[in-house]
Formats: sequence, C-alpha cells, structure tokens
Amino acid sequence: MKLAAIENPRSRQEELGQFLTATPVADFMASMFGPLPRTVRLLDAGAGAGSLTAAFVSRCCEKLDGVRAIEVTLYELDGEILDALSETMRGCEHRCADAGIRFTFIIHSADFIQEMSARLAGDLFGTHPPAFDVAIANPPYRKIGTDSAERRALRSVGVETSNLYTGFIAIIQRLLVPGGQLVGITPRSFCNGPYFRPFREDFLSHLELRRLHVFESRQAAFRDDSVLQENIIFHAVKGRHQPSELIISSSSGEHGDGITETVFPFAEIVHPHDREKFIHIPSTASHATAKETMDGLSSSLASLGVTVSTGRVVDFRLKDALRKEPERGTVPLLYPCHFNGGTVHWPKLEARKPNAILDNDETRPWLVPSGVYLLTKRFTSKEERRRLVACLFDPDQVKTKWVGFENHLNYFHTCGHGLERTLAVGLYAFLNSTVVDQYFRRFSGHTQVNATDLRTLAYPDRDTLQAMGRDMKTLDLSQDEIDQLVTKHLHACR
Ligand SMILES: C[S@@+](CC[C@H](N)C(=O)[O-])C[C@H]1O[C@@H](n2cnc3c(N)ncnc32)[C@H](O)[C@@H]1O
Repeated sequence: MKLAAIENPRSRQEELGQFLTATPVADFMASMFGPLPRTVRLLDAGAGAGSLTAAFVSRCCEKLDGVRAIEVTLYELDGEILDALSETMRGCEHRCADAGIRFTFIIHSADFIQEMSARLAGDLFGTHPPAFDVAIANPPYRKIGTDSAERRALRSVGVETSNLYTGFIAIIQRLLVPGGQLVGITPRSFCNGPYFRPFREDFLSHLELRRLHVFESRQAAFRDDSVLQENIIFHAVKGRHQPSELIISSSSGEHGDGITETVFPFAEIVHPHDREKFIHIPSTASHATAKETMDGLSSSLASLGVTVSTGRVVDFRLKDALRKEPERGTVPLLYPCHFNGGTVHWPKLEARKPNAILDNDETRPWLVPSGVYLLTKRFTSKEERRRLVACLFDPDQVKTKWVGFENHLNYFHTCGHGLERTLAVGLYAFLNSTVVDQYFRRFSGHTQVNATDLRTLAYPDRDTLQAMGRDMKTLDLSQDEIDQLVTKHLHACR
C-alpha cells in the first residue's frame, strides 16, 4: 500500500520522538502475529502516517485467515501528519473492501499517555478504558523527567519509567484483552539497566514473550542516536505464564535478507534467579558459546569481596575544585580519556578534560585512597571493538595518596580501598576477554556499561583470577593473547 510522503523538521521530529517505520520492517512486524479473532480491535498508538496499520491490513487481506472486520483506533499527537494518516486509512478502506473485510477507523489527535492514563485511573467519569485484541507499535522514544506531566500521568496508573517508549508499552499492555497480542519495535535498552527494572517486571508479569527479533546491522537501527542503540521487535501475548520456549530471530536488516530463527528455553532468556530480570538475546553462535562458558563460573563479585561502583566525582558539581594541570594541593582526577591500553596515562595535558582535583574537606568524600583499582569505561564509542573496556590504575605509576575517579568510569574496589594486585590483574584479563564481551552483548544492545551490569556477571573464583593475574606478564597483550590466557585458566578450573 502506498504511503503519503511526510516532511517534518528534524527538531520537531526529535521532540515528538518521530521515527517512521519503513514498509519492509512494518510488513515483517505484521507477519509476526498469531491467529486473530474474526473481528479485530486494533490499537496503533503513536501512529505517524499509519504504516503499521497499513501493514497489518495488508497481512489480513493477503492471508484471508478468517478476519472479517478490523476496527482501528489510532492516536497521533502531531497535527502536521494527520492528513497523511487519514490518506493511509482511506487506502486501508479500499484494500479491505476489495478483500471483503469490514474496515472502520477512528483517529484521536490527542496525547495517548495523558488520555489513556486518565481513563485507566478512572479520572474521566463514566468513560471506561477501551479494550483491544491487537496492538502494533513503534512508540516515540524520548526521556521523560521525574516531574514531567507524562511521568505523573504514568505514575497514576502504577507505571514508573523514564522513557516515553516504555510508558507507551506499559499502557498498551493494560488495554489488551487476555490473549491479546502486541508486536512492537523499540530500542533494546529496556532489556537491561537498573532504570528499566520496574518496567521489565511489569512487562514480564503481564505479557508472555513469544518472539524477539534483532537486527545484526547497525544501519537497520533507524533511530539516529549519537550513541549506538539497537532496536528489537517483540511479539507478546497478554497473559501471566511465560512459555517454556520462545523464538529468537535475527536478520541483517538489509531488505530481502534471510532470517535466522532459533528456539530457546525461556529460562535462558530471563534467568529464573535474576532479580534484575535482564532479557538476554542470544542472536549469534558466539553468544551461545559465551553463555556455556559463563554458566561454568561459580563466583559473584560479592563472594569475591569485590564491589564495583560508579566514579564518585561528578565534575560539574565540583567545578571550582577542578584543575587542568596538577598543582600543589591537588590529586589526580581520572576520566576515560586517561585510558591508555591496559593502564592509565596521567596527566594528559593535551586532553580537554581536567587532570587534577583539589584535595580538601569539600572534595575528600568524593576521592578514594590510592591503591590498585580496576577501571572500566561506562560509555564506549561505536567504533570500539569491545563494549567492556577495562584498565588498571597502578599506584606505582601514578604516585598519590588520594585519587578521584570521574563519573564516566566504574571502579572495582574492596570496601572503598584498592584490590590485591594479582586479583586486579586477573579481573583485568577476564573483563577484557572476548567471551565476557559476547556474553555482555546477549543482554545489552547499547554502548553503556552500568555498574549493575558488571555486578550481575558471574566471575571465576579467586584462585583462578589470581592465577590469570600471575600469568599476565604484561598488560600489553593482544586480544588473541588475552583470550587464550583466559580460556586456558577457565578450562583448568573446571
Ligand atoms: C516513532 S514514531 C512512529 C510512527 C509510526 N507508528 C511508524 O511506525 O511509522 C512515534 C509517533 O508517535 C507520535 N507521538 C509522540 N508522542 C505522542 C503522544 N504522547 N501521543 C500520541 N502520539 C505521540 C509522534 O508524533 C510519532 O508520529
């Protein structure tokens, strides 16, 4: 079906979280639905120009699998796109008439979150929330502040979430009838990370996951973020019992390319004892191998007596204490730009970031005593080969009594003090290995590495880590050399 051309200025698109779905992706999404009722009440929230409804209608008209009527409810906030949306719906009407399917639609030019939250909360006297058999969604993607109107509306129906897209999905879920189906395309960020935990709990206790699809190619990510953000498509059914198995599929994202499908036990996707409820998506063979290796590890950071924290120095809060160059009364301040292979290069006077921070009563609570610390970047660039990038802070190289770790770093420590050296070096090898990176990619689709992500990993026991540490004669090893060393020790400890 032909879709009307839209032109919206970029700033407006960003404000509305408006990234339209290309027809092949929309068709693919529509193909994921299971058997449908004879009369389908369809919800398209954040409808844009209507490409998702058009794809759904095409699917029903082509399949002719018993659908006799489609009643669509569309929500779209952008007045500029409504003509295009109406035009697409008229196209749907014609298509359905030809196929002998009754088609009706209603477009609400309104805020979906505000309107539905009020109806779900019972604030609008005499109006019940509508019920839907099917929803298809590419919701707007934008952060929502703690005090924003959206956040307050969502809170009124028990939804606590920091992004508009998860707010949309949580509301859509509430409007589905038992057994109702949802196919959505969203960023993958909800699958891990502490901020999305309440959403994951809400999602997994009301929606049964049937299928997850990821794109291997980054070009397929149609959201033009400055950081890498993968998208996923999911098919879920309203209900409280997760299936024993589900399908994980992947495709390159290039038009017409093949799709690889594998069936996994649900317990491999959401680990039964994981309190964080991370959603793992093993989409390549190396993800599966990484899982096997990590399953053989029995230690946690806590059992090793090690803690990982986010760097305490939030630079804009301590602006007056920052110094470009070290001077009397200052101590080293480390940013990711100080990472230099396996160790720290400090000071780095050519960098734009400060190199030092005053050591006084105001700053001391944000500093740590000198010692051997393992540091990881919280954000890696798209070009970086691994998501996990660790380096060692060595007090033999940077002589100081106290040191500041800036907030874009995570640091591993023992009760606020440095680590025993061979343990730290062993952790360095382990976290920089390909196997850990591949495991990490099962549950994270973006370049951010949270301290929680590092806490949920399984680790080798202390003896094995120390043996790895002793075996690392230098930190300056190639990726292959690190991988060989780590593999050798992980096999030896089995
Ligand atoms: C990511 S776009 C997807 C559009 C369309 N579903 C598609 O797949 O091509 C999200 C749409 O939601 C609309 N939108 C944003 N906030 C909204 C709100 N609070 N209520 C209703 N629509 C909203 C935007 O204008 C945009 O058209």
